Amino acid sequence: MQNELPRKVTLVEVGIRDGLQNESAPVTTEQKIALLGMLTEAGLRRLEAGSFVSPRWVPQMADTAAVFAGLPEVNGVTYSALTPNEKGLEAALAANVKEVAVFGSASESFSQKNINCSIDESLARFEPVVSKAKAKGLTVRGYVSCVLGCPYEGYIAPAATARLASALTAMGCDEISLGDTIGTGTPLATAAMLEAVKEVVPLPQLAVHFHDTYGQALANILVALQHGVSIIDSAVAGLGGCPYAKGASGNVATEDVLYMLNGMGIDTGVDMTALLKASRAVSLIINRKAQSKVAAALHSDEPAL
Ligand code: HMG
Ligand code: MG
Repeated sequence: MQNELPRKVTLVEVGIRDGLQNESAPVTTEQKIALLGMLTEAGLRRLEAGSFVSPRWVPQMADTAAVFAGLPEVNGVTYSALTPNEKGLEAALAANVKEVAVFGSASESFSQKNINCSIDESLARFEPVVSKAKAKGLTVRGYVSCVLGCPYEGYIAPAATARLASALTAMGCDEISLGDTIGTGTPLATAAMLEAVKEVVPLPQLAVHFHDTYGQALANILVALQHGVSIIDSAVAGLGGCPYAKGASGNVATEDVLYMLNGMGIDTGVDMTALLKASRAVSLIINRKAQSKVAAALHSDEPAL
């Protein structure tokens, strides 16, 4: 562990992808574009806007090409999308996407449930996706899911997470996002996992992605910061969950991460007031209170949903 905290952190806003992929309330393409616009206004510079996956598996993301077609170009802003295979990458290239993500799992069972193949098969599938995307000049993120626990297998050893993170890095992924998909991780387990991954992935290329099912995300993020990680995934209003991870609740709320980082004097470039507007807007669209302590505290004068 290193003790000096990063002075700057990049927040990767995943709410419009990770959040809305799990949402049963209908959200229109225009609403997604408007929400992404509000989040960009708030100062977020990296935002996941959708997934080029099978619409039979995740119907909520079926309009991803239309979302990209409607997004304005904003200087310094990158909108990204998930691409599980070459078909997904082709669709992303046609939509002029500049950053894509492949997503594998440290757990065999979750790999099967989420992308219908084994870990080794997934690596073979990702290889041409990563090499073609790189050849076209795209940035590629590699997700590792179930880094601290699996809904089907329970405990996942740090070595299993490190093995996949290492393979994705060797393949050419520019960044590895470590996903606590079901939010069961606790701080010491997070530290052990990060120690193993830091052996095989350069620190500036590491991101953390915590779901907050058991209320552990901020504590785990603090551990990650103490390990020098400076890229944090979060979702406005604490949206989120994976349809293939039973019991997975929302991602840690962007508002709550921002409050903690502001309090620690860590720069993100994100404005809380503007972010809360986006949080309120998405909550009204899906007709559910934000899963965020900060939104609850600072929106206490707004009419209840
Ligand atoms: P499969 O059924 O094994 O694929 O699914 P297939 O190649 O046999 O194709 C079957 C059908 O799907 C065919 O259509 C293909 O054309 C179509 P048909 O001929 O039957 O009409 N198809 C596609 N359509 C659109 N886009 C594509 C595509 N690929 C095939 N890219 C597949 C394999 C990976 C496609 C499927 O399992 C899938 O779409 N899975 C997506 C699961 C998903 O999106 N999960 C949520 C995201 S991951 C997550 O949330 C975790 C994360 O947040 C990190 C964390 O929290 O840990 C990232
Ligand atoms: Mg996730």
